[in-house]
Amino acid sequence: MSVLAKHTQGKGGPDKIFRISGMAKARAAEVGKENIVNATTGAFLDADGQLITLKTVEDTVKTIPFRDSAEYASIEGTPGFIEAAIDAAFREYRPNGYIGGVATPGGTGGLHHAIYNYLDDGDTVLTMDRYWAAYKSIARETGRNFDTFVTFDENGRFNVQGCIAKLREYAEKQTNVFMILNTPANNPTGYNVKQDEWEAVVAELRAIANNGRNNVVLLLDIAYIDFAAPEARQFFTLFNDLPENFLLLVAYTMSKSYAMYGYRLGCLLCVSSSQEEVDSFVAINKFSSRATWSNCSKLGMLVMEKINKDPELKAAFRAEQEELRLSLLNRAEVFIKEAQEAGLKTCPFDSGFFVTVPTVKAEEVAAELRKSDIFMVPLGDGANAGIRVALCALPEEKIVGMAAKIKEALDAVGE
Ligand SMILES: Cc1ncc(COP(=O)(O)O)c(C=O)c1O
Repeated sequence: MSVLAKHTQGKGGPDKIFRISGMAKARAAEVGKENIVNATTGAFLDADGQLITLKTVEDTVKTIPFRDSAEYASIEGTPGFIEAAIDAAFREYRPNGYIGGVATPGGTGGLHHAIYNYLDDGDTVLTMDRYWAAYKSIARETGRNFDTFVTFDENGRFNVQGCIAKLREYAEKQTNVFMILNTPANNPTGYNVKQDEWEAVVAELRAIANNGRNNVVLLLDIAYIDFAAPEARQFFTLFNDLPENFLLLVAYTMSKSYAMYGYRLGCLLCVSSSQEEVDSFVAINKFSSRATWSNCSKLGMLVMEKINKDPELKAAFRAEQEELRLSLLNRAEVFIKEAQEAGLKTCPFDSGFFVTVPTVKAEEVAAELRKSDIFMVPLGDGANAGIRVALCALPEEKIVGMAAKIKEALDAVGE
């Protein structure tokens, strides 16, 4: 009999992404990394498979005295850092309302706190069925249920009707209707929810908030926002002057935007038309931080603050971000064009690190590809199954011809 507490039963098991990327690494050790395709990693890599970093960020890190960065950070984050995170998240599309923030270790920490503090035991987290697997793990870890709606409609657009139907279902079942949307540049599809789709979803959320029974919490996961065009932020203005019981939470992270994945810093932001609601957001989440990881990376905070306060440095940093966005988009354009030529169906893609090829035989297709030393992650297990192609990890020369190879693998398994 295990010593573990009862509530841990059923947790664990191998992580699919780490399992397949482990296989890729083992094969690379045998035959050389130049002889395999490792499209499993969720980090932006250059042609040599090295992590791409930003020079402005690296230079800024070097200006910070070690003693300053080695100190404890304040638990909730310094005001200069919170302001930098608000600016980084919203830019010129900052919604009208009171805005507060709490430092978190990456976007993951923000997702954890939001799911924990805005739902009761046994309540359900709602999201789309093409989602980042950590959502389900956090729901399990915190004793919340997890449900999804089909992401796309038959026209390859965001499934607004399916989303609304699920929102109404949970409005009947629990007080706080809680939904996570990861957009723009969704992981794993690369989809950006469009303005008209957002308008319909937000109209429904406002109607639920105004029905006299429910509260609404919308958690936006914007981990990849800087890899979508800056105008993709336009939808933030739909959250101007929200009803007091409609809370917008935004999980911002430095991981991809500053290429500081390992420094572990993000900021959970809260937008509300009630100052009191924002104050309790800060107090409660600060308490949860104290009770879990305590405080976050001081160095990360100093870097964000310094870049945000120096207009010249900020402009150079943003220009570098834009360069990276365009180079990633370039990779995607090569893949999507070739997919169309090869007759390979993909989920609709706009921007971001990944493209998904939908297939119910994802495991088999991934195994077939591995025979040619191509490593990709099979995701989902039914209508949401697919192969996730990490374009972020592949140089253009390895992307050329890849769509045709995936099509061959699909044909080989009879899909
Ligand atoms: C969809 C999505 N959300 C959030 C994150 C948060 O990552 P981190 O905790 O490293 O900031 C990731 C990272 O892979 C992600 O893919």
